[in-house]
Amino acid sequence: MYTLRASITSVAAYVPPHKLTNAMLENMVDTSDEWIVSRTGIHERRILKEKNLATSDMGAEAVNEILVKRGIKGSEIDLLICATVTPDMPFPATANLICHKSGLINAFSYDLGAACSGFLFALETGRRFVESGQYKKVIVVGADTMSSIIDYSDRNTCIIFGDGAGAVLLEPSEDQSLGIQDSILKTDGSGVEYLRQKAGGSLQPASKETVDKKMHCVYQEGKHVFKFAVSNMASVCSEILENNNLSGDDVDWLVPHQANLRIIEATRKRANIAPEKVMINIHKYGNTTAGTIPICLAEWESKLKKGDKLILTSFGGGFTWGSTYLVWAY
Ligand code: COA
Repeated sequence: MYTLRASITSVAAYVPPHKLTNAMLENMVDTSDEWIVSRTGIHERRILKEKNLATSDMGAEAVNEILVKRGIKGSEIDLLICATVTPDMPFPATANLICHKSGLINAFSYDLGAACSGFLFALETGRRFVESGQYKKVIVVGADTMSSIIDYSDRNTCIIFGDGAGAVLLEPSEDQSLGIQDSILKTDGSGVEYLRQKAGGSLQPASKETVDKKMHCVYQEGKHVFKFAVSNMASVCSEILENNNLSGDDVDWLVPHQANLRIIEATRKRANIAPEKVMINIHKYGNTTAGTIPICLAEWESKLKKGDKLILTSFGGGFTWGSTYLVWAY
């Protein structure tokens, strides 16, 4: 049994300035603002447009802000884990590049891939390093440049995704009532059928054919993903409440993965949490994959109080899904 808890002690996010609005998408594919808003809740997303910038640059922006806010040096960080499905390149890890850009000279680092659940999977991993007592300052980043793998002639996918990054600092807390209390994470590899990037890996290495057929872009069967997400995200959210003897009324904030407003609403209703307790910014950023949850935390940071009970929940490609219960520590 661990005697330490891992607490979030700082949070920051970065989204690029360029906006891709529904009106702009109307000029690119056969769609409408009305269709997108009613089916997803999304009005616009941010796109990393500048050449020579990539996922690590957005991640480094968030990490730099954390260092400044917490008043610490990069050299004090022991470990950085970056959750992403859009690394700068297959190797080295984007986490290593973030460390290099942010001066984390003493940290070891690696990437973790669990698509839209990546942040929660990385948070659970980081938590265990802190609880071991050996690592005092661990940064968990969720960052994705989805625009780099989107086919902007495919109306099924291009309306959903955006770019962005968020990061949290985890530190040990001896007060057991604060920090990450519980986590349930799940995967089901049969989901590969419905949501994946077909080429670019060892199964289908890059070739002229894979590029011509746009096999490096996100492939999604939206209806299947939707059904899966609605039932599983809601279930895992209810499960974590039950395991911790919490009712919807006990929860101060629900922090759901921002994939679709209807999925968020179904999860909220099933968990019986009041609408005003739900963090929602999907209208501004769309689905930033591993970025959504830490971006929400950063946006709501000023409203969060020490002792607030938060339920984080996600689902994504893989399939992957999960929920984390944590108590805000500052
Ligand atoms: N604009 C207008 N029409 C569109 C469209 C668009 N951007 N995208 C699809 N359509 C059409 C479809 O072609 C279909 O037409 P058809 O009936 O003539 O074949 C019709 O709209 C209905 O499509 P459907 O897929 O049933 O819509 P939906 O209500 O399921 O909404 C999604 C589509 C993608 C918004 C929804 O399925 C979804 O959000 N799925 C989950 C996606 C997700 O969260 N992915 C990330 C995982 S982390």
